Amino acid sequence: MQNGLTVSPPPHDLVAFGATSFVGKILCRYLWEEFGAQGEIKWAAAGRSNAKLEQLRRALGAEAGALPLVVADAVDEASLRRLCASTRVVVSTVGPYALHGEPLVRACVESGTDYCDLSGEVQWIRRMVQRYDATARKSGARIVHCCGFDSIPSDLGVHFLQRQAVQRLDSPCTRVKMRVKAMRGDFSGGTVASLMNLIKEAAADRALRQELADPYSLCPAGYASNVRQPQVRRAEFDADFGAWVAPFVMSGINTRIVQRTNALSHQAYGAGFSYDEAMLTGRGLKGRLAALAMTAGLGAFMRAAAIRPARALLERFVLPKPGEGPSPEAQQRGFFDLRFLGQTADGRRIRTKVTGDRDPGYGSTGRMLGQAAACLALDVHKAATSGGFWTPATIFGDRLIQRLTAHSGLRFELVPDAPD
Ligand SMILES: NC(=O)c1ccc[n+]([C@@H]2O[C@H](COP(=O)([O-])OP(=O)(O)OC[C@H]3O[C@@H](n4cnc5c(N)ncnc54)[C@H](OP(=O)(O)O)[C@@H]3O)[C@@H](O)[C@H]2O)c1
Repeated sequence: MQNGLTVSPPPHDLVAFGATSFVGKILCRYLWEEFGAQGEIKWAAAGRSNAKLEQLRRALGAEAGALPLVVADAVDEASLRRLCASTRVVVSTVGPYALHGEPLVRACVESGTDYCDLSGEVQWIRRMVQRYDATARKSGARIVHCCGFDSIPSDLGVHFLQRQAVQRLDSPCTRVKMRVKAMRGDFSGGTVASLMNLIKEAAADRALRQELADPYSLCPAGYASNVRQPQVRRAEFDADFGAWVAPFVMSGINTRIVQRTNALSHQAYGAGFSYDEAMLTGRGLKGRLAALAMTAGLGAFMRAAAIRPARALLERFVLPKPGEGPSPEAQQRGFFDLRFLGQTADGRRIRTKVTGDRDPGYGSTGRMLGQAAACLALDVHKAATSGGFWTPATIFGDRLIQRLTAHSGLRFELVPDAPD
């Protein structure tokens, strides 16, 4: 009720914007199969092309009246305001976010509409927090970036480990390592475009390179920590895991989100908390050679992508184009297995793992994003959580772990304290 007038609720609980993107189609199929369209969650599919949206609706086998469609363009602010007025929550897969995402975030924070996405673009997330956190706090809009493979398994994986540590060891772990034990999956054109755009921006901007190197770059302004964060930059032996490790490409975003979670939760993981991520490559000479090859390969790719002509060649001949990505069979065959080791300040240890039964970037990501959006729409009530920029662990926590375990093929488990 406002000024004696009854304000009717928006027609949709959730709108999936970017429904015709590669990952958007996976998300919509998942939402359709999991929720229908007019059941527990009343949702609509949105994008810039009505013809493509109609095609998506036909592919899902939905009747014309069953799944509403909303046409909006990421550069047309009026259409974004209409989109926000039609729903309580927007979930967006329109990326690269650094190129297309800001007008929608602005429309959401100004209208008080909740929002989540798949952005893993640190520089853009930092800009959004700096520009819009104050407005989101006033309007009540809850904004949650990084609701895909980056960074839900890392952020909720550390949250889960810390909860186990507090229950079993009576104290959070001040040192946590995440190691990718195994993973099978490919990139889509949209993810490659986001990565290429980040490398291009960083190559041209020294201040941005410094910002990207700061492990606390996503912590709130004024947050102070003098803990030097470890980082695996090259092949090295990790005695805790009894195996060789190499740098992990997603650690640049995941570690920043985990540190933001610690900062937003008033250092629930401790003032001296440190966290890093790496890939396990195995034992002995074979493991060492694999770690050296992986480090060299990643370094060569990053150097090539930073040089304009080489980047153009990679984009033209090697990498997937926007709209392309792994086949449904490849998504089914994919999986991931992440191992976490936590150590308390007095040296007691705990190990956990997070696994997923689809390829990380698409099959699993579509389902993680769908459940994050459902959690925002159904579980996390406005009255209980203020507006602002949250992380998956701080706003969803155990509620999303329950959803992912029950409906998205993820598992969060305690494992014996022995090298994997
Ligand atoms: N965090 C993770 O784990 C994760 C995993 C996967 C993907 N991602 C991210 O998700 C994003 C999408 O990836 P993707 O592979 O699905 O990309 P994609 O297939 O290239 O799709 C991009 C989408 O953006 C839409 N778009 C572009 N300009 C627009 C505009 N002006 N107005 C409205 N829509 C517009 C396109 O619309 P049309 O369909 O009409 O062309 C398309 O649907 C990327 O940023 C990627 O990095 C993250």
